[in-house]
Amino acid sequence: MCGIVGYIGKKEALPILLGGLRDLEYRGYDSAGIAVLDDGKIKRIREIGKVDFLVKKIGQQVIKGNLGIAHTRWATHGGVTVPNAHPHTAGEGKLMLVHNGIIENYRELKKELKDQNFESETDSEILAKLIYQNYDAKDKDSLLKAVKKTLPQVRGTYGLLVMHADHPDELVAARLGSPLVIGIGNDENKREYYIASDVTPILPFTKQVTFLDDGEVADIDLAGLKIFNIKDELIAKGITKIEWDKEKAQKNGYENFMLKEIFDQPAVFEDAIRGRINMKEGTAVLGGLAMTPEEMRNIKRIVIVACGTASYAGMIGKYAFERLADIPTEVDISSEFRYRDPVINEKTLVFALSQSGETLDTLMAVREAKRKGATVRSIVNVVGSTIAREAGAGTYIHAGPEIAVASTKAFTNTVAVLLLYALEFGRLRHVTLATGERLLSGLLEIPGKMNRILAEASKIKIIAEKYKNYPNFFFLGRGINYPMAMEGSLKLKETSYIHSEAYPAGEMKHGAIALLSPDFPVLAIMTKNQLYEKMKSGVQEVRARKSKVIVIATEGDEEAKEMADDIIYVPKTMELLEPLLNTIPLQLFAYYVAVGLGRDIDRPRNLAKSVTVE
Ligand code: F6R
Repeated sequence: MCGIVGYIGKKEALPILLGGLRDLEYRGYDSAGIAVLDDGKIKRIREIGKVDFLVKKIGQQVIKGNLGIAHTRWATHGGVTVPNAHPHTAGEGKLMLVHNGIIENYRELKKELKDQNFESETDSEILAKLIYQNYDAKDKDSLLKAVKKTLPQVRGTYGLLVMHADHPDELVAARLGSPLVIGIGNDENKREYYIASDVTPILPFTKQVTFLDDGEVADIDLAGLKIFNIKDELIAKGITKIEWDKEKAQKNGYENFMLKEIFDQPAVFEDAIRGRINMKEGTAVLGGLAMTPEEMRNIKRIVIVACGTASYAGMIGKYAFERLADIPTEVDISSEFRYRDPVINEKTLVFALSQSGETLDTLMAVREAKRKGATVRSIVNVVGSTIAREAGAGTYIHAGPEIAVASTKAFTNTVAVLLLYALEFGRLRHVTLATGERLLSGLLEIPGKMNRILAEASKIKIIAEKYKNYPNFFFLGRGINYPMAMEGSLKLKETSYIHSEAYPAGEMKHGAIALLSPDFPVLAIMTKNQLYEKMKSGVQEVRARKSKVIVIATEGDEEAKEMADDIIYVPKTMELLEPLLNTIPLQLFAYYVAVGLGRDIDRPRNLAKSVTVE
């Protein structure tokens, strides 16, 4: 989720790189760096914090040159420090590299490197060193060859850009799973290229771009641009004319960040599980847990602390830990946790869930749990955030920057990590290899199934349009879909300002059903799981009160269609994985209702993205 910029041409590279970094800051902003080839030598400057801090550090230094690369970082491996900032280097400053993505096998590669002088804790530095190791100074085509030789050795994802002090007319770019775009400069006689991780920094200079596809390597040479496909064949790529303005480009063409982030989910979900699956053993591998199997077996209770959407992810974690690992699990709203007397001791494992990693209530809960002797682990999105640091160990969910106030992709990725943890604990207890394999295969199918739901977004928009003027809503679910009802209800409240309540369907008859009337619609999550029949009875009770019912059902469920005023289908998956899919129509429904009502989608009233007050 970091940002890459590169330039090669006749203009001064530095202002282009710095301007580009500013345009990309929305993607990640914990540190930034530039490298420019100035009179045969590469000058590199890096700084933590915003791009402005980098500009300040550069100060009055004269850096002249027409070739350069730059990066703004959203940390994944290693904390927020200058040595961890890009560009990374090899060959005593001769080679510089910027990289987005995750190199899964970097630890193995690191052992094999001849040059063992590492300045950072990052996977990206290993990539730089490996390319340099494969470089042959005697061969003038070697920069391209070295990159091509390195990529098959690497497992993971990358969008990368490499420069070399002895190659003043050349940049090499490659992409696998992490986007890169090449802008073709306007003046054909003065060849020039702008490279970036999205089109935003390129737009002020040119609208003509070529998008690299996965597996492609580009030799961006002043003598001409050459692109090779995964089979190393030279290919002719089309040029696309970009009509977006800068703001639209940052949102990848979507109307706002919330919609972009909803549609980001299939891709970032893959980042949450990448490198964390051991199919052979039917288990998960989450290094951040930092516990021996013996210590894991000694855990007798799990407590999850979180707020808002993160707490609903936590409730799904509770179902997973209890079902797969037989460990009694409680979910505590962080703001309540430290004001009661939670039963916690050294056999309790506390998970603190937080997208921002800065939520004060959750931070206080972390401190309280540590004081009482619990083992605390964080599950957080923002690397190096306070909760991640204070918990001491934990796992990042790799959702990338979440900018819309309403949390969407962080929810799915938190659930993904919790499921992996539950499986890892479960495999040390009674979960069989076959069950583990089934769960993991199910997880691997989730992105494809998410895409199928997203492809039907326009249908959900029509439904939202029909219901947007009702002042009240009920969200109903049972079992694992009860937290989903709460999450759906919260999404609707916060984005559209419509009053809504979530109930476990079986509880309605104990009071709340009195509210039902034709003016009080109900959204029922009724996917085919072990509580399907029970959920059906709940929906019948609602229909008997003449409320309108929107049903989220499993594809092919004709009965559900007959019971519903409106139906939204989702693909079948294992019950424990249902929330990963069911959340998408709930997010889209809330989103389109809010759009229909003309709400401020990314910044709903009275809310803040990071709640650092009690
Ligand atoms: C809802 C939402 C909030 C957050 C909550 C916790 O869409 O975004 O409910 O989930 O404020 O925030 P984090 O996860 O940053 O601790």
